[in-house]
Amino acid sequence: MARTRCDRTPAWAPLQAAFDASGKDFDLREAFAQDSQRFERFSQSAPYVFADLSKNRIDAASEALLMDLARQSGVAEHRDAMFAGEKINHTEGREVWHVLLRTPPEVGNDGSHRSTELAKVHETLDGMLAYAESVRADSKITDVVNIGIGGSDLGPQMAVLALDAFANSGKRVHFVSNVDGHELAATLSKVKVESTLFLIASKTFTTIETMTNAHSAKAWFAQQGGTDTARHFAALTTNVAAANAFGITTTFGFWDWVGGRYSMWSAIGLPLAIAIGAEGFREFLAGAHAMDEHFRTAPLAQNLPVRLGLLDVWYRNFHGFTSRSIAPYHSALRRLPAYLQQLEMESNGKRVDGEGATLPFGTSPVLWGEPGTNGQHAYFQMLHQGTDVVPLEFVAVKKARHSLPGHQPLLLANVLAQAQALMTGKVDTGGHKHFPGNRPSTFLLLDDLTPAALGALIALQEHRVFVSGSLWGINSFDQWGVELGKVLAKDIEARLSNGDATGLDGSTAGLLARLRA
Ligand code: F6P
Repeated sequence: MARTRCDRTPAWAPLQAAFDASGKDFDLREAFAQDSQRFERFSQSAPYVFADLSKNRIDAASEALLMDLARQSGVAEHRDAMFAGEKINHTEGREVWHVLLRTPPEVGNDGSHRSTELAKVHETLDGMLAYAESVRADSKITDVVNIGIGGSDLGPQMAVLALDAFANSGKRVHFVSNVDGHELAATLSKVKVESTLFLIASKTFTTIETMTNAHSAKAWFAQQGGTDTARHFAALTTNVAAANAFGITTTFGFWDWVGGRYSMWSAIGLPLAIAIGAEGFREFLAGAHAMDEHFRTAPLAQNLPVRLGLLDVWYRNFHGFTSRSIAPYHSALRRLPAYLQQLEMESNGKRVDGEGATLPFGTSPVLWGEPGTNGQHAYFQMLHQGTDVVPLEFVAVKKARHSLPGHQPLLLANVLAQAQALMTGKVDTGGHKHFPGNRPSTFLLLDDLTPAALGALIALQEHRVFVSGSLWGINSFDQWGVELGKVLAKDIEARLSNGDATGLDGSTAGLLARLRA
């Protein structure tokens, strides 16, 4: 599969020229004044998601050049290689196959690797969902505690909150991720041993935070008189042998070709399946699959993940914007920014290309945000009048699932008004009350926050990260950057008990001494 790093394509220089000639001074207000069809031209529907891209600093010419960039760098071929199960995560020698987790079953097995893996996916999914239904039907279990971190926490936690309106199991679902004992202790103080199910979620079953919390939960369970581990503990992991050795016999597996931050479609999604039921979970997968099909088959110019990924490159590498803010105007999406932080920054926070050569341009933007309207009363000041331009991504949901009068029109009025104000600005000679405007934003609109719509929204985000990572020529599917801290923490843990500061830098040695005093 031929891949060409974006800066080595023939389209790169014309893009730079287009940016220098008109891109850097692009004015959104002028663009709308000159083109009455701009909204229609720069908006599109994808499964469950309508996207208005018209308030971005692009025109037909720059978008056409960006499409050339996509074609020349081989994004489509790279995408096809991912869907086909090629080992595109070459630094770990793995396929990148989370799309298989939401692919419907096929009749018959043609003996191919894909067919065999897909059959395993459905066998495991059926078992996991049957278990979820048995937990839901078990009135003696009132609390489910998911112990996991990173991808084994952020996805399911975000989704359980997001789909609260569909949660009808009557169970409370808790998430414990931090090795800081305050978190686990607070959760344990709220639950009872006889009515709690612990889910130990860890792809590797070696992550120190999760293992520490799991051991403490197990010890607490025994201290409280618990004996039936098979009933009260289940493990969600690729490392079933380690889970068994830990003493857990109820296990749901997945495979090393599922990246941690792409794993909530697998057994890692069990807390969500317990919350919304098997049918709801299948709808969630179906929504993601619909977006997969859009990404796989839509022409590049009408392919929403491609358009968003290209925009990310345009902003990062030509405009030089270093961050992107996400503003979900739905309080149930309050963990979406945290989820997207891992998705974007763990995937694309890389400084070398596929061959290990240092990149001469920037990659992952800093991703951050809070639900609207809360963010408006905090950092939106900076977005409107600060010195940096931060592209904003609004996520709005048309339908409310509460019946309180007045709230939804006010919420929707606010999201529209913010996008409008960022673009139009306000002229004021006094300076302090002047809004420069021309601040770009993307507006993603869902009709309703259903399991299928959430699945599609998340798959859209996964694929746009794929597109920008592909253009940058990086491996978006490894995460070596988190390893060093893990190794050093082990070393320092020993020094905290023995006081040995040999070879440490002055600051670490000084802090170590203070902590031991
Ligand atoms: O430390 C980062 C990381 O490797 C993430 O990529 C992953 O989601 C997380 O740790 C948890 O890993 P595991 O599921 O193996 O416990």
